[in-house]
Amino acid sequence: MRLFIVSNRLPVTVVRRDGGVEIRESVGGLATAMKSFLEATDGGRGLGFREVVWVGWSGLRAEVEGEEVRARLRERGLLPVPLSEEDVSLFYEGFCNSTLWPLFHSFTVYTVFERRFWEAYVRVQQRFAEAVASMAEPGDLVWVHDYHLMLLPAMLREAVPDLAVGFFLHIPFPPPEILQLMPPQWRTSILEGVLASDLVGFHIHEYVNNFLRSVAKFLGYRVEVGVVHVGRRRVRVGAFPIGINFEMFHNSALSPDVQTAAEELRQRLRGLKIVFSIDRLDYTKGVINRVRAWERFLREHPEWRRRATFVLVVVPSRTGVPQYDAMKREIEREVGRINGELGEVDWVPIIYISRFIPTPTLHALYNVADVALITPLRDGMNLVSKEYVASRRDCRGVLILSETAGAAHELVEALIVNPNDESAMVEAIARALSMEPEEQCRRLRAMQERIRQNDVVKWAVDFIKATVEAYGEAREAAA
Ligand code: UDP
Ligand code: G6P
Repeated sequence: MRLFIVSNRLPVTVVRRDGGVEIRESVGGLATAMKSFLEATDGGRGLGFREVVWVGWSGLRAEVEGEEVRARLRERGLLPVPLSEEDVSLFYEGFCNSTLWPLFHSFTVYTVFERRFWEAYVRVQQRFAEAVASMAEPGDLVWVHDYHLMLLPAMLREAVPDLAVGFFLHIPFPPPEILQLMPPQWRTSILEGVLASDLVGFHIHEYVNNFLRSVAKFLGYRVEVGVVHVGRRRVRVGAFPIGINFEMFHNSALSPDVQTAAEELRQRLRGLKIVFSIDRLDYTKGVINRVRAWERFLREHPEWRRRATFVLVVVPSRTGVPQYDAMKREIEREVGRINGELGEVDWVPIIYISRFIPTPTLHALYNVADVALITPLRDGMNLVSKEYVASRRDCRGVLILSETAGAAHELVEALIVNPNDESAMVEAIARALSMEPEEQCRRLRAMQERIRQNDVVKWAVDFIKATVEAYGEAREAAA
């Protein structure tokens, strides 16, 4: 059996630079998780797959991608699906990131409904289906990922008979009242598209319930716990909370590169408590709320000025979408204002970094930060919070986490806050900075144990097994 992983973004992103090309690691939970899973299972061979092919977009416009780049990707077991300038604008920036992303995160006022976007959404997925169909054979397993590809399971069923198909959504699934804002024909196609799979997976039960309620309301299908009846077919639906490579993060403090980077950071920030966050630059991540809460904390607790600093890392993302560009300007304005109003010649309230940071630096920051302030407004899961907790081999550090992140369902020993409740955020920061080491350790240990047990390999293996099982059941029922 072969495994096809299909996601819009490949695990690497190609960028044109100084006349040549550079191949970078992709940022984001999906890419991190699937890479960790493949690394830990000898590229899927450890699970008995004869071959694993990852199908997706390189990040370049098709017009400048060229055969050489495609050949280099194919050498790595990646099958690129080229996206033209127009596809990037209408499919990726359009339907994916101006319609589905804001709507599914309940940012309804940011959501744009445009017919051209929808048409591109259909068109591009047909090309994904053709790419998979050019290689897949009956009996292969296809794992389709995320909101970019919700029509693909149905298209694959048409193109290749007898595939095992699993679909996993990495972002929240909204309640039917929110999905109802989408034109009926589109939402019907999306729900039917996903339901062509043998198994549909989400991070948490809340998203499963939202999906089942939507299916019942808009399609009229009979739903039970974990099952949708589509005519004679039964589609399995379940919660599979994504994990991380626990051991890798837990052992990071032992790596000489990370130790050097951590030591340098401690030297530079000597004597200061470090509050830290890292996110893709995205309005769902609540960066502005967080920065304002930090400002209020410093104003209400002046004793912490010069004794603590906030290292705010925001990695550029989706730069062609207007809200993202506007958000970047707003963050820069706020950080500049706060540093200007509260900073001193020898102390800055916020150290702001707006670029991708290399892995040893990221691991070093996880290892030295006294507090991780992870407060998205809405987040499907949020891996950063799990990575921070897993990294603390020394059993020191406090996680402050939004109740609106999927991860809050598992990391219950974090200081849980509502990201719109500024007073609660201020209180949590004060509490975190003064927490006794014993309490820090007690909370971390409980969370670490859970993250260790539910790691990324377990997540992927559970999902794959459940897909194969559901596929077997469907074949039996059809026979
Ligand atoms: N990440 C990274 N380098 C960076 C910033 C982020 O490798 O400079 C990784 C981070 O370690 C995490 C992922 O990107 O694994 C972000 O996943 P998360 O679920 O927190 O958020 P998403 O970006 O998927 O919304
Ligand atoms: C989230 C999505 C992923 C996406 C990632 C980065 O994690 O769930 O599908 O790849 O963000 O976003 P980008 O638009 O750069 O692929």
